[in-house]
Amino acid sequence: MNNRVCEALNIDKPIIQGPMSWVTNAEFVAAVSNAGGLGFLGPNAGQVEVTRSPEISTERMKFEIRKIKALTNKPFGIPLIINRDLDYTWPLIKIVIEEKVPVVLINDVLDERIFKPLKENGIKIVYRPITPTIQNARAAEEFGVDVYVATGFDEGGTVPEQVIGTFSIVPMIVDAVNVPVLAAGGIGDVRGVRAAFALGAEGVFAGSVFIPTKENPTAENVKKMIVDATAEDLLMFRTLPAYYRSLPTKLAKKLVEMDEQGASREETAKLMRGSIGMRIGMLEGNLDDGYISVGTGITSIKEIKTVKEVVVTLMQDFN
Ligand SMILES: Cc1cc2nc3c(=O)[nH]c(=O)nc-3n(C[C@H](O)[C@H](O)[C@H](O)COP(=O)(O)O)c2cc1C
Repeated sequence: MNNRVCEALNIDKPIIQGPMSWVTNAEFVAAVSNAGGLGFLGPNAGQVEVTRSPEISTERMKFEIRKIKALTNKPFGIPLIINRDLDYTWPLIKIVIEEKVPVVLINDVLDERIFKPLKENGIKIVYRPITPTIQNARAAEEFGVDVYVATGFDEGGTVPEQVIGTFSIVPMIVDAVNVPVLAAGGIGDVRGVRAAFALGAEGVFAGSVFIPTKENPTAENVKKMIVDATAEDLLMFRTLPAYYRSLPTKLAKKLVEMDEQGASREETAKLMRGSIGMRIGMLEGNLDDGYISVGTGITSIKEIKTVKEVVVTLMQDFN
């Protein structure tokens, strides 16, 4: 398939599996890339324990990158963690260059110091602001990002601060820039993919649909819960930076209750324990103390498949 996304990222099918905290590892990511899409490791890839050390976190990422390279010769990507002091960022950039990682994902930050070494080394940049806007799309284009991801409020994970659904955000961004745009949020089957292309996207960026797959490290009881659930089951509550969704675990119910009783965003965020609540819910399968983050496209996900089956089904128009 020859379109601008495939050309920019050197892939066969314009489907990108977005980074997901905790629930990715080398085997899973390599399976996406081997199926012709582009797999991304996420934060804490292949891990079961959190670390606050930039050195350990970088070493762990390097380990997973090397594992992927042993499993595929296709392109894959990692997200750059860009913190204020850049102490997580520089070691990761060094690894990306040394290990010849083909693609990185950048959330939000447009910083010449970061872009320059990546571009000089031919590393492709997928740019996904948490909240897509016409302004940040134009700025990203000027910065020379290779692909821009327009994420709608339907997505799993940290939703955009503006409540604009995928159907509305994609054409808004497509009309504002010339850089190729990927649609993210709520894509659960081939109809979602066709709709994204009808709206002007040149590829899709999906997370939730890849979770209930054989290769994904999510706990089996959670995968089953996802395939049995519909979008109607999802709970939503206010937290930082805006809102969050979860399937109905005990913790998620408590978060909704707190929100209804007027708790602040800081208070609900504290109870979620950042992404630790996700590890407990999704990786450990603990439906009491953790949460389960998925997007509103889950209604169409009816069975646990292989990654390849997901890619083939969603991308059946792209051979
Ligand atoms: C469990 C989960 C964890 C996620 N973690 C991250 C993350 O750490 N960084 C990031 O940029 N996006 C993260 N995302 C967002 C995905 O990369 C992607 O944008 C999103 O899943 C697309 O929406 P969909 O789930 O409806 O397909 C996460 C999504 C999920 C479902």
